[in-house]
Amino acid sequence: MSLPSGPKTPPFRQLLQWLKDPLDYMERHHQAFGDLFLGYFLGRPAVMVSGAQGLQEMMTHPQITAPGELNELARPLLGANSLTLLSEPEHQTRRKLLMPPFHGERLWSYGQWIREITEAEMARWTPGEAFEVRNAMQEITLRVILKAVFGLRDGARLETLKKSLVERFEMTAKGFGSSFIFLPILRRDWGPWSPWGRIMQKQRDCDALIYAEIQERRTNPDPERIDILNLLLSAADEEGNGLTDVELRDELMTLLFAGHETTATSLTWALYLIHQNPPVYEKLMAELTSLGAGLDPLELYKLPYLTAVCNETLRLYCPALLTFGRQTEAPVSLLGREIPAGTVLAGSIYLTHRDPGVYPQPEQFRPERFLERNFSPYEFMPFGGGSRRCIGMALAQLEMKLILATILLGVKLEHRSPAQPLKPQRRGALLAMESGFTMAPLRGLKASASSEYSVTTVT
Ligand code: HEM
Repeated sequence: MSLPSGPKTPPFRQLLQWLKDPLDYMERHHQAFGDLFLGYFLGRPAVMVSGAQGLQEMMTHPQITAPGELNELARPLLGANSLTLLSEPEHQTRRKLLMPPFHGERLWSYGQWIREITEAEMARWTPGEAFEVRNAMQEITLRVILKAVFGLRDGARLETLKKSLVERFEMTAKGFGSSFIFLPILRRDWGPWSPWGRIMQKQRDCDALIYAEIQERRTNPDPERIDILNLLLSAADEEGNGLTDVELRDELMTLLFAGHETTATSLTWALYLIHQNPPVYEKLMAELTSLGAGLDPLELYKLPYLTAVCNETLRLYCPALLTFGRQTEAPVSLLGREIPAGTVLAGSIYLTHRDPGVYPQPEQFRPERFLERNFSPYEFMPFGGGSRRCIGMALAQLEMKLILATILLGVKLEHRSPAQPLKPQRRGALLAMESGFTMAPLRGLKASASSEYSVTTVT
């Protein structure tokens, strides 16, 4: 029994290669070593698993677990009590607690204000004037998650919190900042002038705002409110103990972070890809306009071509390159190979989504492939799987569909950025795109409070 082979490059250089260009790192080593290879991309030895067969075996093997300790890198931002850092049995208990707002009636009830938030953002766009698409999508998805989590729609408290969160998230998303996530050795707080000291100060500012919100809600409870904070405040274990303020803060921060960046990036790719491919645009518009003015979220959710467009976007540029880490608790057989106990594994969503045996011409954006056949949950897994499958999956899909439909039916956009084609690029722990992708509205939207859209031609 031995670990699979992998690159001989020294560990630290491998980590730097992974940080600089994760796609090149995965593609090169996958080509050289196949669906299982041992690498140093997590800052420790870990086996990258790719392909539907490997992912299925990894996700379903009873001796392969998903311990929270493997997600230590997220601790400085999300905190030790975040769902992502919990292990069994606490992890399952917390998941059950967090699930209800992301399913069923509650989920559909978000439809109305997701559309209103989108329309409010669109009302800020000026015909003929370029806007940064990713920033606009982030503005929408952050407002959506802030409403779901805190019930806040507008007002000074919301604006202050939103600004503070964006500043904090950006500090470890771009350029050198993302190194702080993967290189704990850089995390030295030498006061407000040191880079990590500044990040920690911003973190404390955000935390103070979140704690103030928690305090305010403890002091003035309102059982009528249906936001996630209310749900967590009323939760208690068998002995009647509720969550502490620190536990609440960590869970809220987890949802705020996990719940907007991924969706904003996917929406940006979707808008780019749809407008790059006129036949896709035409077909999608024909489907959307056939729905009539009402835009019922449930009906929209089921539209086959819109679903195919969203799925193809998530296949081609899934914001999560890897699943969270998994670990073998005993010697296991994976893809016919004996793997020792205590081995760390990570599923490559990116490589699996580009397997030419499953997706012919995988580089091509072709939503039709999702209409021609069904893919197994291991062939297509943008939201991961097993015990850690994304809890925001249904919300993210609803958001993508509603926001896209609202924008496409409300305004005609054109590409403005000079650099084409748009290239994928690391952003923090996720895959996003080069910055500076802009579009401009050709026609303006008369924003209205009703669910009807009136489009006017701008001359
Ligand atoms: C396009 C949007 C999204 C994508 C592609 C995505 C993807 C993922 C992936 C790949 C995982 C890891 C699953 C695994 O290891 O098996 C995950 C976990 C998670 N996601 Fe998402 N996600 C998205 C949106 C959201 C939203 C909207 C929320 C919350 C509102 C959310 C909250 C979470 C949380 C809390 C976890 C950790 C689950 C756990 O530890 O049990 N995500 N997501």
